[in-house]
Amino acid sequence: MSHRELAAVVLAAGRGTRMKSALHKVLHPVGGKALVSHLLDTVATLTPAKTVMVVGDNADQLKAAINGVEFAVQDEQLGTGHAVRCGMPTLESFRGDILVLYGDVPFVTAEAMQSMLKTMQSTAGCGLVVLGFRADDPAAYGRLIVGPDGALERIVEFKDATPEERAVDFCNSGMMLISGAHAAKWLSALTCDNAAGEYYLTDLVAIARANGAYVGHVETDEANLIGVNSRAELAAAEAAFQARARADAMTAGVTLVAPETVFFSHDTALAADVTVEPNVVFGPGVRVEAGVIIKAFSHIEGATVRKNASVGPFARLRPAADIGEGAKIGNFVEIKKSRLAAGVKVSHLSYIGDATIGPDANIGAGTITCNYDGFLKYNTHIGAGAFIGSNSALVAPVTIGDGAIVGAGSVMTKDVPGDALAVSRARQRDIKGYAAKFRAEKQAEKQAAKAKKEG
Ligand code: UD1
Ligand code: MG
Repeated sequence: MSHRELAAVVLAAGRGTRMKSALHKVLHPVGGKALVSHLLDTVATLTPAKTVMVVGDNADQLKAAINGVEFAVQDEQLGTGHAVRCGMPTLESFRGDILVLYGDVPFVTAEAMQSMLKTMQSTAGCGLVVLGFRADDPAAYGRLIVGPDGALERIVEFKDATPEERAVDFCNSGMMLISGAHAAKWLSALTCDNAAGEYYLTDLVAIARANGAYVGHVETDEANLIGVNSRAELAAAEAAFQARARADAMTAGVTLVAPETVFFSHDTALAADVTVEPNVVFGPGVRVEAGVIIKAFSHIEGATVRKNASVGPFARLRPAADIGEGAKIGNFVEIKKSRLAAGVKVSHLSYIGDATIGPDANIGAGTITCNYDGFLKYNTHIGAGAFIGSNSALVAPVTIGDGAIVGAGSVMTKDVPGDALAVSRARQRDIKGYAAKFRAEKQAEKQAAKAKKEG
């Protein structure tokens, strides 16, 4: 198969009014990534020579958020055919094929796109390939009418369809591949003399056939064609993304005890033999190595968790938390921008921020690194094998040396030398018999007050 150049044209000029949002529809995130970026990342696997986004009103938002594409503006929304035409000036010197996609249909697969390219290249005289699907409920879609030779004969919009045509469940996704040899000429032949007064991209089928070209079709699963026009559809797209992410994780050897309660980001990377208990949320940028257990109700973003570590239940790992091999992070522990070496234990109720902790250090319950003075952030270093007693405050910048012990309830404002014991609280004083004497006195006082009230 000879290699032909490809350009992708992504339509995103739609107003998206049903989203009722200040944010452009295609920038709403699914799995922590903009809808259109899901599509653009898939398109990128085809290594197109160019990708053009056709944008309308909110062009500035898109230009600020999306890299690696060229933008073309469609000032007035005169239909899908008109939108593609608006993208053509950016492709003036380009002679390759043109793949038309919709910015609000994020999950079209690379396989479907490849299959369109293959049909175009391997079919003699092919000028156009349309992406179709079998619809569960085909009601509103245009129907794809395929001839006995397998060529796509026409696309009939539902309102124009005969009862026999309406019975066809093969529908138009709207996406298509246009041969570079004809694209400019055919697109300029589109007219708007229809009921809607719009330039329909679908009219290319008739134009191509009138010019003696073959029109092919490719079928994809309806599940890959979820379109997002409203918040409810955004939630449905998120659900579809999560379902796929869970299935992929399990296929890759991850145990999900209750898959439907675990939420992934687009880039969550879990190795084989990771176990994830129920109700865990992965924000963007998480990498978890083999043998790790993430216990229930943990929230993890931007963190790396190394081999055989244990996290949670109820742990929060924030960006740039790096949890060393075999380390243990227990309940109600928050860790931010900190590197914990192998074997470190932070088992209960702690905040560790802007810190480095050496191997096998033990951080007692309730330890807080005081990393912020209201203006700037400061670092804490805890040496290898150090032991921080419960309920200690480490006021950064501060270094606790290797093997040092910090007495429980201490506030560390100065560096502690290696192997030293540092205690910074009042010395304990025992007053013999005081408690018993105190109880007797108070008991008598209470009795007297009661007698006075009754008498
Ligand atoms: C289109 C198809 C229809 C198909 C359906 C699938 C045509 C004429 N009809 O109809 O056969 O079954 O998609 O969903 O193509 N857009 C622009 N500029 C415009 C118009 C649209 O950028 O002037 C963009 C929209 O932002 C959207 C996409 O093109 O991303 C599709 O537009 P939409 O109005 O949803 O097309 P449909 O009428 O649904
Ligand atoms: Mg539509």
